[in-house]
Amino acid sequence: MKLRNIISAKDFNKDFLDDIFSKASKIKENPGKYCNCLINKIIALLFFEPSTRTYESFYRAAKNLGMDIIGFRKSYGTSLEKGESLYDTIKMYEGYGVDLIVLRHYSAGAAKYISEITEIPIINGGDNGREHPTQALLDAFTIYEKFGKLNDLKIGFMGDLKYGRTVPSLVYLLSNFNNEFYFIAPDLVQIRKEIEFYIEDKNIYYEKITDMNKVKDVVKELDVLYVTRIQKERIPDPMEYEKIKGSYRVDLNLISNVKEDFIILHPLPRVDEISPEVDKTKHAYYFEQAKNGLFVRMALIYYILKNG
Ligand code: NCD
Repeated sequence: MKLRNIISAKDFNKDFLDDIFSKASKIKENPGKYCNCLINKIIALLFFEPSTRTYESFYRAAKNLGMDIIGFRKSYGTSLEKGESLYDTIKMYEGYGVDLIVLRHYSAGAAKYISEITEIPIINGGDNGREHPTQALLDAFTIYEKFGKLNDLKIGFMGDLKYGRTVPSLVYLLSNFNNEFYFIAPDLVQIRKEIEFYIEDKNIYYEKITDMNKVKDVVKELDVLYVTRIQKERIPDPMEYEKIKGSYRVDLNLISNVKEDFIILHPLPRVDEISPEVDKTKHAYYFEQAKNGLFVRMALIYYILKNG
């Protein structure tokens, strides 16, 4: 069945991924010329939290498909400053004849809530620390491009696995396949229980690595290392942040004995968790990954608005 809203990566199945990835590959060959077929459609980009890549790539994606774009980035200058509710905001965009909403919001569950109060299809562009399903799509697309498959891979997730939203979504997506997961993080920001339960239920092999001295031994076995920054703005206690700050970093030494095809991904923005000298190595895939956001988001918009 076709997905109407993109709320959680738990909803993605293999058919859906095949469809999006084959479209995205085609689009990547010539993104400006894919189709101008959504010319009478309107997309609303409603971003209540900061964003560079997600906003810009959705903007560019919609433009390439010929769409009109409305919305805002942060609530500055909108009636939200006057205390307007999310409900009223959405009802108003409904009145303007919007065909698709991309919502980034600071409340976990905001996109789901919106999907229940409007008929307009919703894409979750990140809801607090819970999920970021379109990021997972471009992450997985990048892995698929490199390895030609999404199974039988050893995938490490390193960084803030507790407060970040990209890792949960990517783990949910990859749980459609048989892979091994290695969660590398200090105890304070280890993977959340709900995600452990999810993958245990799918019989997926995983390990948690909390001793950061052992990271190099783990990394040399991996195919993919997915790195994230510490989500400073989401950590409730500043003391907690102080304890984990600087506790991990990818540098040339860490990757000196990795596999030939090993790749490093990062949803970006990076702060200090990947040393810039790593950028020049053949293992650095994060800028290609960010670029893929445009093609994958074009494919996704097309999928929602065009297919039947
Ligand atoms: C991520 C996000 O917003 O969750 N960024 C992104 O969308 N590429 C990662 C982050 O902020 O750390």
